[in-house]
Amino acid sequence: MPTILITGGHSGLGSECSKLLASTYHYNLILAGRSPAKMETFAAELRNSYEVKVDIIEMDTSSLTSVRSGVTQCLSMLDRGEIESLQGIICNAGVRLNGATTYSEDGYETTFATNYLGHVLLTELLIDRVASKGRIVFTSSGTHDPETVDGKTMRVAAEYSAIELAHTGKNGKKPIPNGKAYSTSKLCIILYAYELNRRLKKAGVMVSSIAFDPGATFDTGFLRSMPKLVQWLASTSFMRWVMKRSGITLGDVVLSGQFLAKIAADPMYSHGSGKYFQSNNGNLIERRSSKLSYDEQRAKKLWSDTKTLVHLQENETSSILP
Ligand SMILES: NC(=O)c1ccc[n+]([C@@H]2O[C@H](COP(=O)([O-])OP(=O)(O)OC[C@H]3O[C@@H](n4cnc5c(N)ncnc54)[C@H](OP(=O)(O)O)[C@@H]3O)[C@@H](O)[C@H]2O)c1
Repeated sequence: MPTILITGGHSGLGSECSKLLASTYHYNLILAGRSPAKMETFAAELRNSYEVKVDIIEMDTSSLTSVRSGVTQCLSMLDRGEIESLQGIICNAGVRLNGATTYSEDGYETTFATNYLGHVLLTELLIDRVASKGRIVFTSSGTHDPETVDGKTMRVAAEYSAIELAHTGKNGKKPIPNGKAYSTSKLCIILYAYELNRRLKKAGVMVSSIAFDPGATFDTGFLRSMPKLVQWLASTSFMRWVMKRSGITLGDVVLSGQFLAKIAADPMYSHGSGKYFQSNNGNLIERRSSKLSYDEQRAKKLWSDTKTLVHLQENETSSILP
């Protein structure tokens, strides 16, 4: 059976995605994440319930060393035939931080490192091994679009480069607020998804690159860094009603997770490359992402700055992509 690798696939909406991939689409899975014990417990549940092979790979997406080491493990599993084929990658792990700005072990702002840089490195290092007709799906967020109600609350840091985002708050400068760092990391992952799609198409590679917004989704660990009062408020049906009334796009932990699995595996979405899908009040819809996300010049600059930030070596660059 073919395999899909998913980051953050053991919890939140990622776990609902993993369950559907295993139960309905019969994929073997690699759960990649920073919490081996939690991943192992969930992996055992999947193996027992759905009779699929589930491997775990330790991978902290905020750490370039950890991503490289996880990829090495995945490649040797492929080389040894322990994985039949890598049919997809789901870049789903993410954080929305609170409090003082922190930096990863590589010295990059943690949100940007976790949500964006680690996933780009993961994709670049594995892309040559993704099977024909495979898919790479990136979990983004509606907050990336400053023209929507979701995006108006945070607003992206439109004027910043990747280098500045990675080093925000250094040299005595004011850091980008956490909310903005989050929404901007999610804009960057869409820009990357579209740029990857263009590069794949140019090279004639039959692999899709797709972006997904799960909508504002409760009952996940997403708000875990926020004050307890905010977490409690978000759990009330009154707040959900207020959010719905104000036009925020609402997701649902089960549905949004299942939609993510569908985009990654269902034949209905085999022509989804270069597109943006959203879990929108109970429906999975295709829609346009923000204006900025379609800026090709910006995407090219982001791509080359990212290569520098993740220290992509000559022997690590894809042999099939321009
Ligand atoms: N919930 C929402 O309202 C919402 C809205 C739009 C977009 N999203 C996006 O949806 C995705 C899933 O979020 P969720 O709502 O399901 O939240 P969640 O329950 O907190 O799940 C996040 C997952 O990311 C993993 N993760 C965090 N930092 C990591 C790191 N450094 N390395 C590896 N894994 C890491 C977590 O693993 P641990 O168990 O180890 O912490 C967890 O499995 C995220 O990308 C989030 O930004 C969520």
